[in-house]
Amino acid sequence: MRRIQVGIVGAGPAGLLLAHLLRQEGVEAVVLEAKSREYLETSPHRIRAGVLEHGAKEILRRAGVGDRMLARGLGHKGIYLGFDGQLLHLDFETLVGKGIWVYGQQYLVQDLIRHHLGVGGEVLFEHEAVDLEDLHTPNPTLVYRTPEGRIGRLRCEFVVAADGSHSSFRRFIPGQRVHEKVYPFAWLGILAEAPPAAEELIYASHPQGFALFSMRSPSLSRNYLQVDPRERLEDWPEERIWEELNLRLGGAAEIRPGPLLEKSLTPMRAWVVEPLHSGRFFVMGDAGHVVPPTGAKGLNLALCDAAVLYRAMCAFYKEGEAHLLDRYTQDVLRHVWQAELFSYWMTTLLHTLRDPFEERLRVAKLRHLAESPLLQGFLAENYVGLHTTVRYVDLIPVQP
Ligand code: PHB
Repeated sequence: MRRIQVGIVGAGPAGLLLAHLLRQEGVEAVVLEAKSREYLETSPHRIRAGVLEHGAKEILRRAGVGDRMLARGLGHKGIYLGFDGQLLHLDFETLVGKGIWVYGQQYLVQDLIRHHLGVGGEVLFEHEAVDLEDLHTPNPTLVYRTPEGRIGRLRCEFVVAADGSHSSFRRFIPGQRVHEKVYPFAWLGILAEAPPAAEELIYASHPQGFALFSMRSPSLSRNYLQVDPRERLEDWPEERIWEELNLRLGGAAEIRPGPLLEKSLTPMRAWVVEPLHSGRFFVMGDAGHVVPPTGAKGLNLALCDAAVLYRAMCAFYKEGEAHLLDRYTQDVLRHVWQAELFSYWMTTLLHTLRDPFEERLRVAKLRHLAESPLLQGFLAENYVGLHTTVRYVDLIPVQP
């Protein structure tokens, strides 16, 4: 049976970044990915949020995978809040001295794959991890199925599950609890060949519901509408979507419709699994915790987890120190709950609420924010990631 140091399930941002960082330290990691490379890199079903916190951009740059991100991504100083037909600009650089970077998650996955394979890293595409044996021994063993249907085994020193929100591997954490919140909204998302409504993101609050105007490039818009979770995509023909986006923007900016490339419905949920590790088995990213998309934190949290586990594994392999591995759950939960808090705050600030009392409180909160530089500072420090990725930048050595 083949022996390796670290077996990683899932070639998403967390798994790939961890594998890449470990490889630079001479630790052998193998990534098993059930899907094909082509699917990961091009499937429209995988068009995810494109907001990188200041610290996420720095981590990726230091890891040596940021060339295209820096060339093609868009630096944003802040965001706009739209309400009452007006746009309020929150300038994060003035408020907290840092900005954000807009670059699609799918492009980032392409970059990570290309760089990792380029330095001889191993990603086994179309290899589905199916079981975990000998969990509580020094050599947990990953069982996988090859594209030809054969069963293989990797005898590891550590196993990491980074297999996304539908993770089949997190079940191996014994005695886990799940803390969950179901929000009473869903997001109808579109990707359109149309210039974005503004040069930075607009989070628009309207009595009829929230709308978000985001982008992937100067000619690709990514927009969302708050809808009832019971609604169906068929109820939203193209024309209705553009009308509704216009209405909710309330004349604060102009939107130019364009051909739709993709349309999707996402229910809004949050959950956190505890604990996030057991013995030599660790869970990272969406496999262990999910946030609603309002704060754009999901991808950034996944990168935080990878940085924390990277540091802990380096301490183990370089200094024979296991205490950071033992603290993995504790360390990760700190940034995860900070992001859950912020995502909850943003979500309940911006989405129209059914309860008339709560809805009035929400509007009061929005007006308070518009007038209070202190509250704007709270939003800004969370949005740029002062409590999440920014805390971990220094863990990543700069690659030449
Ligand atoms: C996106 O561009 O897809 C996006 C941006 C900001 C969010 C959520 C999604 O809060």
